[in-house]
Amino acid sequence: MTTYCGTGLFAGVDLEQLVEHEGTPLYVYSAAMIRSRVRALQQALQGLDAGIRYAVKANGNLAVLQLLAQAGAGADIVSAGELQRALRAGFAAADIVFSGVGKTDAEIDMALTAGIGRFNVESRAELDAIQRIAVSRGLIAVASVRINPDVDAHTHAKISTGKAENKFGVALDEARTWFDHKANWPNVQLDGLHMHIGSQLLDLAPVAEAAQRMAEFCKQLIMAGHPIHSLDVGGGLGVRYRDGEVAPLAAAYAAILRTAFAGFDGRLLVEPGRWLVAEAGVLVSRVVLVKQGESRHFLVLDAAMNDLLRPSLYEAWHDIVRVGGEAGREIVHYDVVGPVCETGDTFAVGRPMPRCEAGDVVAILGAGAYAASMGSTYNSRPLPAEVLIDDSRYAVVRKRQTFDAMIAGEQPATDWKQP
Ligand SMILES: Cc1ncc(COP(=O)(O)O)c(C=O)c1O
Repeated sequence: MTTYCGTGLFAGVDLEQLVEHEGTPLYVYSAAMIRSRVRALQQALQGLDAGIRYAVKANGNLAVLQLLAQAGAGADIVSAGELQRALRAGFAAADIVFSGVGKTDAEIDMALTAGIGRFNVESRAELDAIQRIAVSRGLIAVASVRINPDVDAHTHAKISTGKAENKFGVALDEARTWFDHKANWPNVQLDGLHMHIGSQLLDLAPVAEAAQRMAEFCKQLIMAGHPIHSLDVGGGLGVRYRDGEVAPLAAAYAAILRTAFAGFDGRLLVEPGRWLVAEAGVLVSRVVLVKQGESRHFLVLDAAMNDLLRPSLYEAWHDIVRVGGEAGREIVHYDVVGPVCETGDTFAVGRPMPRCEAGDVVAILGAGAYAASMGSTYNSRPLPAEVLIDDSRYAVVRKRQTFDAMIAGEQPATDWKQP
């Protein structure tokens, strides 16, 4: 039996056999790995009044969410769709926080009436909208202000969110005026702060700096007579995508929070997404063909940028391994590409790999976060299937999309109406 080479993530599971049954491209997740990450973070936070609010956007598959809910996490959502996923998966509404710069009235209404725990408010217009909708429903909304601590997270520009020029959060002075005038929003219980400075943070120094700024601002607000019951430090913990990268340890992260928020008499929330699920997933794909270009060897897979966008979007690195063994094979430098009609449909450039042939199976590692959840049907490619492995068994947790499902909702232009 072939076992998955490299990490031992799916020890005892024959991925080649799995794809014989379920086809490719196929997302495969390890339940054990996800549980162990949640446990590690919970243990690191022990003794603090702290809760995990998993960022659903990282991987919103219902089975993955269910696993996280059962492990004791809450959810961080950014849309009505994520709210419905979270509730369907079994998260208690009170354990859900709602982030995002563009919440619509309909989304605010749905979240408020569902009884979510907290809104992370990103603008005065949003605060006004929450007040208006809360009045119409006769409810009180609990809210935190998302502050922008203006800290450089030293990550990719497209996933940096805590600098003054980013669209997220508000400056401390703006936040202060909201607290000073909170009587203007009587149906909003404004008693918390929130931030999220960026994603894939391998260096925790910016986290420590931002936490210090948040703690200092929190003290100022309390001194000014504004009780603060919740501090949410966002997500951002990085993971190991390639050799040499070292993901921060939960204990180091927790130590930063302990130091920054020592003496804070309220609830701490953390919103990791990637750290909990990225390394628990792989995208398994079959080699369609090997193409010898004029100057390059192309390994053409049946997975493409529509299945896993990160390399095209962020030039992100994912390790790629040949399933079924690498020993004794000549090393070839491949451009690993998909079949989509875009030069950007490239998973790796000049990547040294054991020689592969058409029909071989490869696994793209670190594909548990911002992978299936960013999938599209570009080039009319149905969405791939997803399976969850637990204890050497597997369950299909998303069926491979059929052609009919992919085009459902589309129709010829026969039913013309006046706007
Ligand atoms: C508000 C907020 N919280 C949490 C996260 C999760 O980030 P990560 O997956 O890097 O932990 C994000 C990601 O964009 C976010 O925008």
